[in-house]
Amino acid sequence: MSGGAPLPVPVKGEDIVILNIDDIKKTASKNLPVTAREFFNSGSTYQTTIAENSAAFDKYRLRSRVLVDVSSLNTSTTCLGQPIKFPLCIAPAGLQAMAHPDGELATARACSSFGVNMGISSYANYSTGDITAAGGHGISYAMQLYPMRNRQLQERIIQRAEAAGCKAILLTGDSPVLGVRYNEWRNDFRTPEGLSFPNLERTSEVIRETTHDSGFMQYNDDSHSWARDIAWLRGKTKMQIWIKGILTAEDTNLAIRHGCDGIIVSNHGGRQLDGAPATLDALLECVEAARGRIPVHMDGGIRRGSDIFVALALGAECVWVGRPVIWGLAYKGQEGVEKVLQVLYEDFRRCMALCGCRGVEEITRDCLARMTADGLLVRCKL
Ligand code: LAC
Repeated sequence: MSGGAPLPVPVKGEDIVILNIDDIKKTASKNLPVTAREFFNSGSTYQTTIAENSAAFDKYRLRSRVLVDVSSLNTSTTCLGQPIKFPLCIAPAGLQAMAHPDGELATARACSSFGVNMGISSYANYSTGDITAAGGHGISYAMQLYPMRNRQLQERIIQRAEAAGCKAILLTGDSPVLGVRYNEWRNDFRTPEGLSFPNLERTSEVIRETTHDSGFMQYNDDSHSWARDIAWLRGKTKMQIWIKGILTAEDTNLAIRHGCDGIIVSNHGGRQLDGAPATLDALLECVEAARGRIPVHMDGGIRRGSDIFVALALGAECVWVGRPVIWGLAYKGQEGVEKVLQVLYEDFRRCMALCGCRGVEEITRDCLARMTADGLLVRCKL
């Protein structure tokens, strides 16, 4: 996969109204009922971390370069054994059928038509098998998993993921309890009627008996640990094991010590511990701790192609996006998700060209500068 040619600038119709992720968010938010909108768009408690996730990118400046031949620029990379069009995967966000009836099926089709990998949430409204069948096998899938009290159920999720051709488990390590999302309490948020969680083997009727938070507590295991959970998973699957939710050098080193295949620097889109650092800020310490021994990916706050560029320059091999995909679904189903991918791809490609990077391996800290508190521009050296 070469990564493709530049896309033409839109000149007419809806394309000039929907130009970036903010435009898609605005339209999508109008299409969603308030309970769904707040569930998707909110972070935890005071919204500090969710806001910082995006704001952290503004500290950096791009060192634009001139007179570099970028005519054969290549945006592609390899992720989970699969060449992908550009260094982005779709994060495992749950309840996608609450954004659009086709939910995860539409997302899988969009990933497949665009050529990027997809994470599947344990909270997906379609089964893993149906999702991978919708997207086909030209892309890689990763199954998100929580440590669960019911180990038999956890094992069945793993077996179904393996049978559906998933390449990796993304073990979410940041959720012994859920963060407090005030909107869910205020709105008495419940999954809308008719939507089930096939991975968790829960029908719509059962899910609707409890709030999201209490439903989570019923099966989630807060006695999770590095020693217990990684060894257990290794005994159950040949898929790669990635840990999602890492924010520190200590946990990066533990992931390496426990033989994990990769990490995703993530704060759960600001939905867990409010006050946790922006993932872009935490990325630096995790990349430095990893010292190239393990792939480091990140998610959180990516809204522009240049955000992908900055994350790569700071050492992430690939980024994942969650909310923009939900907004794409609520805007226009599969076509909306394709629009999100197209906007991010085009913006990333243009950013590479203007910084004189011909391939993703040329995106390094040398491409970045940052503003100091006293207004000076300083280079971010390797
Ligand atoms: C969330 C969990 C369940 O609602 O992933 O963020």
